[in-house]
Amino acid sequence: MLSLTPEIVLTGIKPTGTPHLGNWVGAIRPAVALSHDPRRRALYFIADYHALTGLKNAEELKTYTYSVAAAWIALGLDPERVIFYRQSDIPEVFELAWVLACFTPKGLMNRAHAYKAAIQKNQEAGESDLDAGVNMGLYTYPILMAADILLMNARAVPVGSDQQQHVEIARDIAQYVNRQYRAEIFTLPEALIDEQGAVIPGLDGRKMSKSYRNTIPIFAPPEELRKLVFRIATDSSRPGEPKDPEASTIFQLYRLLATPEETAAFRRAYEAGIAWKDAKEALYALLEERLRDPRARYQELVQNRAALDRIFEAGATAAREIAGDTLKRVRQAVGIAR
Ligand code: ADP
Ligand code: TRP
Repeated sequence: MLSLTPEIVLTGIKPTGTPHLGNWVGAIRPAVALSHDPRRRALYFIADYHALTGLKNAEELKTYTYSVAAAWIALGLDPERVIFYRQSDIPEVFELAWVLACFTPKGLMNRAHAYKAAIQKNQEAGESDLDAGVNMGLYTYPILMAADILLMNARAVPVGSDQQQHVEIARDIAQYVNRQYRAEIFTLPEALIDEQGAVIPGLDGRKMSKSYRNTIPIFAPPEELRKLVFRIATDSSRPGEPKDPEASTIFQLYRLLATPEETAAFRRAYEAGIAWKDAKEALYALLEERLRDPRARYQELVQNRAALDRIFEAGATAAREIAGDTLKRVRQAVGIAR
């Protein structure tokens, strides 16, 4: 049956670094594609207050907020189609977070994976205080995330598999509230995980991640891009020796941007024993060709904070309309209504 109310799809983007090819393929490209589905209404936002849990350099937080927003727009996010906003512009999020905290069993937070990972790290380091270095923002991170999601009535939340647990926590909290007041106050969200979603390898062959310092930033200038490509790890097979494309980071990256025909031709070159130097040259040429235009758009946008502010402002106005309705419903349900 055709539903008249579009399903709300929502995701948050933490502004903690310059986006790399892994972010693009794993998060930006699929989210932009989803925003073109006419049965859905997309709300995407920069989760700047989430970033504050770990990022305490004010200039960096501000710079990344603009640069990450510029990157998404340069890579196809259309602010006319997507409600694109900054989390910090929506005060309703923080009020709702408090309400949700009052319904969140403390044990649920103890089991959240980011907190558990911090504890485990302390344990391994022989630290006597297992909570060392854990601030309450990190500890209650999933509650703020639940507020982001539930406030906007999101149904589908596209995230990487590392965030699945957080979406499940949001769903659990929504159910506690709905049950308590015997009403459907919140829509129950679900994580949307691209199961086939490739894990993009980085320069050293491990998962591309800023924590491993093995990334290729999407908008690196040509000389840097070329240098990075030439740093990609390869095995010791010699020119003329057939090479396995599936085991090659160069090939994995090439395939992300190439057409099927280009990929097939590159595969044949591997079978014919292409030299690593030439494979790298081919990857660099392809990246440069496909990233040149988005890079130019990015450079123009990132310097125009006023334009980005206007986009954020329009996004916040639209998002706050939804937020206001939800919050009213919540206040009424819990007895804060005047
Ligand atoms: P990083 O690992 O560099 O810190 P983030 O954790 O900020 O990256 O990731 C933001 C988004 O990009 C997440 O949705 C994540 O799943 C996706 N992503 C990050 N790295 C990769 C990768 N190497 N391959 C595929 N997707 C990735
Ligand atoms: N926690 C997410 C991340 O680290 C970012 C995020 C914040 C988010 N709020 C959200 C994602 C709400 C989806 C929905 O990547």
